[in-house]
Amino acid sequence: MNKNLVLMGFMGTGKTVVGERLSKKLELPLYDTDNLIEQKAGKSIPNIFDEYGEVYFRELETEVLKEIISFRGCVISTGGGVVLKDKNWDILKSNENMFLISLMAKPETIYERLENDTARPLLQVEDPYEKICELFDKRKELYLRADIVLWTDDLAVEEIVEKVIDKVSL
Ligand code: S3P
Repeated sequence: MNKNLVLMGFMGTGKTVVGERLSKKLELPLYDTDNLIEQKAGKSIPNIFDEYGEVYFRELETEVLKEIISFRGCVISTGGGVVLKDKNWDILKSNENMFLISLMAKPETIYERLENDTARPLLQVEDPYEKICELFDKRKELYLRADIVLWTDDLAVEEIVEKVIDKVSL
């Protein structure tokens, strides 16, 4: 397969776990932009945000995207904020081998899934639900620009994986 399956979507929509299952099932290598950023920086995401701030994190995110753009036949999980920069869209749309899949979920679902999470710096605030709603409102339209959009609120991971495989029609 020539295509790269690129998973996009808000935090807590299941990109990482769906990416892992897709990669196993289709026997394709998996790249996770957050992991690649951590390797590059030699630090965890919370530490990068803490020590250098979000702007620097976003620069690393764009660098990592540039590095993986030439790959073929792999699954790529991206961080939830990858949709924010036009530059990232230019990279993601720069060749026809990228198949962009947005995993969506309602803010209530995201809140439930991430309630005790400490690994997302943007949600370490007094009212995480309010923050999720605010970010979701700003980003929703951007996620909808993907080639396919799947609402995951009522789906188990396996069902999401099956739907993706179905739509990609390998
Ligand atoms: C972010 C999402 C995170 C990570 C960072 C910022 C965002 O990735 O890249 O904390 O801005 O939505 P996940 O979507 O994998 O949680």
